[in-house]
Amino acid sequence: MCGIVGYVGNLNAAPVLIDSLKKLEYRGYDSAGIAVLGKEVEIKVIKTQGRLSALESLVLDQKPQGNIGIGHTRWATHGEPNTENAHPHYNASRTIALVHNGIIENHGDLRQELTSRGYTFLSHTDTEVAVHLLDYYYKSEKDPKKAISMTLSRVKGSYAFGILFADCPNTVFAARKDSPLAVGLGQGENFIASDAPAILKHTHDVIYIDNDEIAEIQKDSVKVYHLNLKETAKEAVHIGWDPEAAEKNGFAHFMLKEIHEQPAAIRNTVFPRITDGNISLDELALSEDAIKNLRKIHIVACGSAYHAGVVGKYVIEKLARIPVEVDLASEFRYREPILEKDSFCIAISQSGETADTLAALREAKRQGLFTVAIVNVIGSTIAREADSVIHTHAGPEISVATTKAYSAQLATLYLVALRLALVRATVTKEDFAKLVKELKSLPEKIEMLLAEQESIKQFANKCKEKKDIFFIGRGIDYAAALEGSLKLKEISYIHSEAYAAGELKHGTISLIEKGTLVVSLATQPTLYEKTVSNTAEVICRGADILALTFGDNPALLQNAAFSVILPETDPIFSASLSVIPLQLFAYHISLAKGLDVDKPRNLAKSVTVE
Ligand code: G6P
Repeated sequence: MCGIVGYVGNLNAAPVLIDSLKKLEYRGYDSAGIAVLGKEVEIKVIKTQGRLSALESLVLDQKPQGNIGIGHTRWATHGEPNTENAHPHYNASRTIALVHNGIIENHGDLRQELTSRGYTFLSHTDTEVAVHLLDYYYKSEKDPKKAISMTLSRVKGSYAFGILFADCPNTVFAARKDSPLAVGLGQGENFIASDAPAILKHTHDVIYIDNDEIAEIQKDSVKVYHLNLKETAKEAVHIGWDPEAAEKNGFAHFMLKEIHEQPAAIRNTVFPRITDGNISLDELALSEDAIKNLRKIHIVACGSAYHAGVVGKYVIEKLARIPVEVDLASEFRYREPILEKDSFCIAISQSGETADTLAALREAKRQGLFTVAIVNVIGSTIAREADSVIHTHAGPEISVATTKAYSAQLATLYLVALRLALVRATVTKEDFAKLVKELKSLPEKIEMLLAEQESIKQFANKCKEKKDIFFIGRGIDYAAALEGSLKLKEISYIHSEAYAAGELKHGTISLIEKGTLVVSLATQPTLYEKTVSNTAEVICRGADILALTFGDNPALLQNAAFSVILPETDPIFSASLSVIPLQLFAYHISLAKGLDVDKPRNLAKSVTVE
């Protein structure tokens, strides 16, 4: 959450900063600002509440000049989203400015201390204490790195900082603890950014700053120091992503583009890992003996990644016959989990930066478990801290509501399940071959579903006034319902709940009334009759039904107001198909309501606070 950028080079910094911030708007978009250092003594700060477009207009009017600057797009934590609370924050003489992503937990005490030393605060943010602390230590030390190091030693919490000192007109300083920060390496210019897509247009080579490190960035050099100011050697990582992938390329929204990129995301994730009908998943890095002796798998994740994990539980348990526990990462870390020997932990995360997932991964490691990360962003913190990483190859995902990254996570979990099942001999070689073939055919089946967009759009248009929409299903369908419901509420602001179909009658069915829409997912033939009965229970209480099923389920189809018949596949893979119409349904309702599909209110894509 919150996006930070920085630039030092020969170009005018302001347009570069604005352009980079546009790629990070998914991290927060309630206010934004830049600071540019030019020939004047004072650092020029321009900031405003509202979207980046508001900042862009101000910048176009004021035309700040200077080849060095920092920028920020905010997702408010402390202090309402107004102009005063927007970053950058600066000292009284405007000779130090900073942008921050994270939370300074001891800001209350620090604010009191600094106020008693005569500092005046202009905002209600936790961040502003950092700039006054810097000012305080810089006055005594006259050395920016020392001042930064002393400030950081006083600050508790998480941070990625970008910092300018008017006294150092050629340098952007940066520091990090538990919030992501990359330095982009250009030719005669360098960058900082919370996430690589912000700078891909300029460079594919980045250095990831680690916890308790301070970076000193000039146009021709990047030096990184530990907090004790000893220089530390860093290796650059090459990010292969195409910068075009972070553009809309003619689609109305990133979400729609990313929905359409799902066949490619699955192909890129799955195909290179299948050779001659076999799954090579060296990244799993567990010996065959270890796989045979596994007693349990723990999956930890947040949001949609958690929903992928719930599908993963059903699939792994069914195919590989290993008990799987799926936890919301935020719960796992504080519930003193009991982790047995001979088990391992999978952390799933698109960004690789989600604070709760990272903390859950660390807890699993602390207890001695082998950890595997399923992560989309190369070089991200979770990817670096896990014992082993299976990268999803979804490419950069920009829309806040995830689609293609979720699909790539599902595909990866299928690969894991099949690999484990083969080693444990819980599927026959024949069935394994059939399932692998089926997995490879998912992209074209998704393409068939995407071609049905128009009818889904028409039905979505009719549903835009709905106040509540329920999703029901059993087994894998319940897991898919969780994701369908989240997608809908995230971007349409319609209240929605996903329920295990058999559980609805234990309370929640009291909410069903005439005209309530219930999305009934029935893709598991062994459970058809049960779900059809549960659907009948809501129909007779007045509900309208959107049915998602295969063609051989007339009992459900005949009572539906609208239905999507999924292309035939093995039921184990149905979640990869049923999610497509549910994403399109959510997208078109949001569109019909005139909402900002890619930037829904109150949300951020990368949640780096607890
Ligand atoms: C946020 C996003 C969700 C995402 C979740 C986990 O809440 O809005 O779309 O599923 O974080 O993110 P991760 O990057 O860990 O997959």
